[in-house]
Amino acid sequence: MSKTKQNPSPGRLGVWLFGAYGGLATTLVVGTRAIARGLAEPRGLATELPIAVGIPWQGLADIVFGGHEIRTGDYVSAAAEIHAKTGTLAPSLVHALRKDLAAASKNVVAGVMPNAGRTIESLADRKPKAATSLRAQVEQIQRDIRAWQRQHRLDRVVCVNLTSTEPQLKMTAAHRSLAAFEKALDKNDVRAVRPSAIYAYVAATLGLPFVHFTPSDSALVPAIQEAFAKSNTPWMGRDGKTGETLVKSALAPMFKYRNLRVLSWQGYNILGDRDGRVLANAANKKTKVATKDALLPSILGYPLHTHVGIDYVPSLHDLKTAWDFVHFEGFLGFKMSLQFIWQGCDAILAAPLVLDLVRFADLAKRRGEVGSMPHLACFFKQPIGVAEHDLHHQWQMLVGYLERVRSERAR
Ligand SMILES: NC(=O)c1ccc[n+]([C@@H]2O[C@H](COP(=O)([O-])OP(=O)(O)OC[C@H]3O[C@@H](n4cnc5c(N)ncnc54)[C@H](O)[C@@H]3O)[C@@H](O)[C@H]2O)c1
Repeated sequence: MSKTKQNPSPGRLGVWLFGAYGGLATTLVVGTRAIARGLAEPRGLATELPIAVGIPWQGLADIVFGGHEIRTGDYVSAAAEIHAKTGTLAPSLVHALRKDLAAASKNVVAGVMPNAGRTIESLADRKPKAATSLRAQVEQIQRDIRAWQRQHRLDRVVCVNLTSTEPQLKMTAAHRSLAAFEKALDKNDVRAVRPSAIYAYVAATLGLPFVHFTPSDSALVPAIQEAFAKSNTPWMGRDGKTGETLVKSALAPMFKYRNLRVLSWQGYNILGDRDGRVLANAANKKTKVATKDALLPSILGYPLHTHVGIDYVPSLHDLKTAWDFVHFEGFLGFKMSLQFIWQGCDAILAAPLVLDLVRFADLAKRRGEVGSMPHLACFFKQPIGVAEHDLHHQWQMLVGYLERVRSERAR
């Protein structure tokens, strides 16, 4: 029995994970099944807060997981590896869920990785299906999702991108309009199309809500936003706001409220794991730093010296540490400083956010909403199409949306 307090919506929801055996995806699947079976509290979920009461959220017990991966494996062994390295996902819990996890593992199939870059390609040990051209890969991904939806008699499906951070994309004409993007697919222009773009495009063509949780900049380019608009489908991204950036977006407004001038904000992140290994590559790291660095001038309203460092420290695994030094000026020009240290387990912080986003995306689809979901800005480091980065204002946008949904339901 689910311990969640919300009323489950009718029907079965499929959640399709791109990057299905990653640390975050595995923690999400184990955690959702644990809550659904009453073995864990829904801690960390905004959709379980009092502000979210009275909304017909999807019940967690009626979620079926599936996904694409480029590595072989299964959820029981992925969870055991995570426990050995990080200490989360207790063996007794994983044992209690072993049948659920075995069933979910059967729904994971080979993904695609055109133009993914050498670091990501070096992770792959799973032979992709013999789809060669970009068009054939698109059709394969479409078939995989539809076959799984039919097999499990799923009423609705939400897609979530949890793949590794890709190298930055060089924006060209192919990304500016849907017609140009489709031409690039037809011409098999592999340089213009990364895996995240294929996955997002497939979600758009199938009319499935899409949550883009990674920093990869290829997924929600204007061409693909146009595809979502064409199929009347909601989407939101990018890069989940779970750690250092979350703290930054909560603290920076404080300096603004007190008219304290921030001179410099230096941040250093150290992390291990596959995610850290991928980010150790300069091209992949550039994508991540871009999403972490943009918010301070926007919140404070003036340019300042900022730095975001990310270093790979293998022994840390998923236990990330961030140290931030904030140098600021007060009355009579006197300089002072604030320092904080954030130590978090990345996947434990992120998994409940993904569940919240799945519920919000599913709700938006059921309500007939189309395009970006700006009320979800507080969940993202770089909320596409939203200039507001102040966490407090973003939170009010979320609360306002929930009030609107409730009042429309009451009418
Ligand atoms: N707190 C967080 O955990 C957090 C916060 C914000 C963003 N993110 C982002 O979420 C993503 C997942 O994080 P993670 O810690 O689980 O990383 P991870 O490396 O453990 O998982 C990524 C998974 O994606 C798979 N993958 C890579 N390319 C693929 C492709 N083309 N098709 C299918 N699968 C593919 C990899 O094999 C791996 O299993 C990363 O991009 C990360 O930057 C995580």
